[in-house]
Amino acid sequence: MGSTDVEHLFRYTGEFSETIIASAGGAFVRARDGREILDFTSGQMSAILGHAHPEIVATVGEAVARLDHLHSSFLSDVVLEFASALSALLPPSLSKVLPLSTGAESNEAAIRMAKLATGRFEVVAFDRSWHGVTGGASAATFNGARRGYGAPVPGVLALPTPHAYRSPFASNGAYDWRAELDFGFELIDRQSVGSLAAVIAEPILSSGGIIELPEGYLAALAEHCRRRGMLLILDEAQTGLGRTGDRFAFEHEGVVPDILTLSKTLGAGLPLSATVASPEVEGTCHERDFLFYTTHTADPLPAAVGTKVIEILVRDRLEERARELGRHLKRGLRDLQQRHEPIGDVRGRGLLLGMELVEDRHTKEPAHELGARVGRRCIELGASLNIGRPRHANVFRIAPPLTVTRDQIDLALAILDQALTECAKG
Ligand SMILES: Cc1ncc(COP(=O)(O)O)c(C=O)c1O
Repeated sequence: MGSTDVEHLFRYTGEFSETIIASAGGAFVRARDGREILDFTSGQMSAILGHAHPEIVATVGEAVARLDHLHSSFLSDVVLEFASALSALLPPSLSKVLPLSTGAESNEAAIRMAKLATGRFEVVAFDRSWHGVTGGASAATFNGARRGYGAPVPGVLALPTPHAYRSPFASNGAYDWRAELDFGFELIDRQSVGSLAAVIAEPILSSGGIIELPEGYLAALAEHCRRRGMLLILDEAQTGLGRTGDRFAFEHEGVVPDILTLSKTLGAGLPLSATVASPEVEGTCHERDFLFYTTHTADPLPAAVGTKVIEILVRDRLEERARELGRHLKRGLRDLQQRHEPIGDVRGRGLLLGMELVEDRHTKEPAHELGARVGRRCIELGASLNIGRPRHANVFRIAPPLTVTRDQIDLALAILDQALTECAKG
């Protein structure tokens, strides 16, 4: 056995948590020292079925033994079954599936499709977006990690994120998001060189701070796209597959995107993503020699997992669970807000909730250090709700597996209550 110290690992995300994890099961991860910690971030916001779900364990075992990996121009029944199971969940205009591995890849493919199908190259994204770290996806990512890597892909323009809690278009409880959106597009039209291809957006911005699009916003955004001949790409990496209380977050507003990307939750923690488009978009791309070829495109093993995740989602009505348990969790967070002055805002939908800590409820100055302390203390007490990163630690992104129980939610709330009380004392 080699060293179990971190000395040989590249520090890919600032500082690591000090807790080293040995195993996981259900809603818990287990530390090296045996401590059980509630995993209320579902790993990297992905493990919607919890860890080591018995049916996923069995599926992986069977699939890897039968057919694991293929040359990407070979298809298999497993992949055909996955594509048809996924398109059966979606409206007819989203019936062409490209199975991939990661979220960034799925967005990369979506952006390439939009460029090829429209013959244009400009892409619009929210100014708090996160779409991944590969070239095209990172150019459309404005929530950090932009500096020091040279010129991003040209032609990406930012639209203000409709952030009800912090927008300059909100005052005295009233928020004119429509004026903000129209103003954003006025700026885009001025900056554009006449080649607007697509808007890419998360229906609830997660890394940006759990920011729900206001009611009616998505329809208004789609109308702006339609007027300009742009495609609407929705990135449902975190919101897809029941997480927000609907199977897909776009259903909440009844706005169907031209291209949908799914990742994280689609493989319930295993590396599976998909870019889904209409037969028209797919047809045009195919005529124009669309190429998106990776080592793991249409791999059978992750596809088998995806089909099983979809089966469990539908059979166990996980979106209903997310809606109900989400209401319970949100009520609990709102109760904490009554008692803990630093909780400035509680927001989100289903089991994708945000809690923002501020120094002062009036000035809303972000309480980064307090957030990091509370996050660390929660882990010591047995709940991972926010991995404290000093610069972005004031918004807790709370997203337990959809299989979480009420008792586990109550335990997490009790731990958060204790951590907030202790940390406020300094
Ligand atoms: C909304 C969204 N899109 C895309 C990505 C990128 O996914 P991946 O890290 O799997 O490339 C993320 C990752 O956090 C995300 O939150």
